[in-house]
Amino acid sequence: MKTVLITGCSSGYGLETARHFHAQGWRVIATMRTPRTDLLPTSERLRVLPLDVTQPRSIAAVLADSGPVDVLVNNAGIGLFGAFEATPMHTVREVFDTNTLGVMAMTQAVLPAFRTRRAGVVVNVTSSATLAPMPLVATYTASKMAIEGFTASLAFELEAFNVRVKLVQPGYAPTTRFAHNGGARMAGLLPEPYLPLAQQVFAALGTQSVFTQEIDVASAVWRAANDTSGQLRFAAGADAVALARDAGRGVAGPAMLASA
Ligand SMILES: NC(=O)c1ccc[n+]([C@@H]2O[C@H](COP(=O)([O-])OP(=O)(O)OC[C@H]3O[C@@H](n4cnc5c(N)ncnc54)[C@H](OP(=O)(O)O)[C@@H]3O)[C@@H](O)[C@H]2O)c1
Repeated sequence: MKTVLITGCSSGYGLETARHFHAQGWRVIATMRTPRTDLLPTSERLRVLPLDVTQPRSIAAVLADSGPVDVLVNNAGIGLFGAFEATPMHTVREVFDTNTLGVMAMTQAVLPAFRTRRAGVVVNVTSSATLAPMPLVATYTASKMAIEGFTASLAFELEAFNVRVKLVQPGYAPTTRFAHNGGARMAGLLPEPYLPLAQQVFAALGTQSVFTQEIDVASAVWRAANDTSGQLRFAAGADAVALARDAGRGVAGPAMLASA
């Protein structure tokens, strides 16, 4: 029986991914900053463990506790919407600490075992914001773009050890806790000169007709984890798939708010 360890399972894409892998018969280590056992089925194949991806001790402790892992899903992430000019550098660092360095630290922590066993998959959840630029998410996009480059390089580096590294690019899901979780961090990041642009972006969001659902991401992570074709990127959700298609044709313009 295979084991998946997933970061950020308290809500949204991570929670649905944990449910999905469990439903497929896998052993699931569902990690959360504040563990809750009421969100997932009670099962011998499912453990909820504490993990903050910005804390090296927390990473070491979860891997010591979890036993051998076959697939790591780096899903935990935080959002940021606001003018870059108004974004304090400590906030930029906070976003990178979770979205970029947290992913790298988790990956580095599992690699010795993966390389020694000559088996293992790392699935990194980025965003469809990496497929087409959009305004007012420069910091967030940069943090996810870094993981796109990191993953693409690492995939080649680990090929000889039969360790696979994949990217899942979700689109915008208004149903997760993503916007709510980022709310406090975004206070004061839209000074007056940027308000017309922000209103334009919110208006575009209001007219968006296709979204991503949690199950789209869970299914894409599942496909990525089991893929043996060499495919690196898996767009997840109707909006993300459309952006990936346009990007592939070289026609992707500014995605005003196709994704977060
Ligand atoms: N929703 C979207 O529109 C969207 C679009 C594209 C990409 N994404 C990406 O998809 C992933 C999941 O987002 P979501 O929409 O499911 O948002 P969500 O509901 O806010 O879930 C994010 C999860 O990450 C966890 N997390 C945050 N910081 C962490 C840390 N330092 N250590 C461990 N866990 C941490 C949160 O835990 P707490 O409960 O403890 O805060 C939560 O479980 C993120 O990487 C996000 O960037 C989301």
